[in-house]
Amino acid sequence: GAAELGPYRHYMQKEIFEQPRAIADTLEGVNHIQPELFDGANASAARVFKEIDSVLILACGTSYYSGCAAKYWLESIAKIPTQVEVASEYRYRDSVPNPRTLVVTISQSGETADTLAALRHAQSLGTQHTLTICNVSTSAMVRECELAYITRAGVEIGVASTKAFTAQLAGLFLLTLALAQSRGLLSEAEEVRHIKAMRHLPAALQSVLALEPQVIAWAQDFAAKENALFLGRGLHYPIALEGALKLKEISYIHAEAYPAGELKHGPLALVTSAMPVVTVAPNDALLEKLKSNMHEVRARGGVLYVLADADSKIESAEGLHVIRMPENYGELSPMLHVVPLQLLAYHTACARGTDVDKPRNLAKSVTVE
Ligand code: G6P
Repeated sequence: GAAELGPYRHYMQKEIFEQPRAIADTLEGVNHIQPELFDGANASAARVFKEIDSVLILACGTSYYSGCAAKYWLESIAKIPTQVEVASEYRYRDSVPNPRTLVVTISQSGETADTLAALRHAQSLGTQHTLTICNVSTSAMVRECELAYITRAGVEIGVASTKAFTAQLAGLFLLTLALAQSRGLLSEAEEVRHIKAMRHLPAALQSVLALEPQVIAWAQDFAAKENALFLGRGLHYPIALEGALKLKEISYIHAEAYPAGELKHGPLALVTSAMPVVTVAPNDALLEKLKSNMHEVRARGGVLYVLADADSKIESAEGLHVIRMPENYGELSPMLHVVPLQLLAYHTACARGTDVDKPRNLAKSVTVE
């Protein structure tokens, strides 16, 4: 009801603004990295982590994209080979099982039919070790997985997932650090540095949320468009995917995401002044490459909307709109960069007058196939 919404127009907006709290709650009491954070009702994560040599992440929708981001962390920080697959594909595919793989399911509801079926399929192929990152502690997913990390995003009502996504990323980053530690790859100094960065997340999210007026100005432009392209590289490619998903789910604008290096292999042909191009451009190792991708877009009359962080040297110009994030967030950057993309989808949908919390044809939880 209206009372619960407080100052917000929709649950989605309220949930976007709840992210500092959702992350604080999800990370509450985490003062050290230790495998026990992932213990299941009857299983010790310390033992399981010693028995695995790879990770297979299975999920759907937004939860799948948090898994895609986690792959970059798991391989670069924990040095553990990681695959990510859409649950509805994995469950019907002939794959090559590896009993030493840790199968990780990610689910807000813990009841998504395809993700549960994918888990059971993996178990039928001989998977010994399973872990879920899940927002509902009483769900089938938590019951059926050996290990669990319960995110504390709180009840999510908006069909388009927001706070559950950032909370999943928090859980997945912790999992990365716990696996790195178990593999002897996390020094105490690094542990302290990461814990400090995670503690700062609620405040960092708060300052990103304060960019809302600038995002509303972008949304005015987007509301009149029928197509949009989202670009990112590396860890931010999954964030581009999630930004495009949010926009299509609630504004019904056709949006797709590409890893920016693939632009020249197809999507560049679509670029005209009618197609806004959103670029996630933090100052990381790939920024220079990304800048040359952006140049290719501008040279074809494309209009760029760039999320740059405090360290990226990119200035607004004709056909180039920049929103500058308050800081550089290092490894945690995806959790911050997704927020303006959530707000962009939200305000574009509001400007188009769609039913934001209940988009046509979509359900909050898909419990039948
Ligand atoms: C539906 C929802 C999405 C969600 C997906 C997976 O499509 O509309 O927001 O990401 O299901 O749901 P899960 O509960 O498994 O994360």
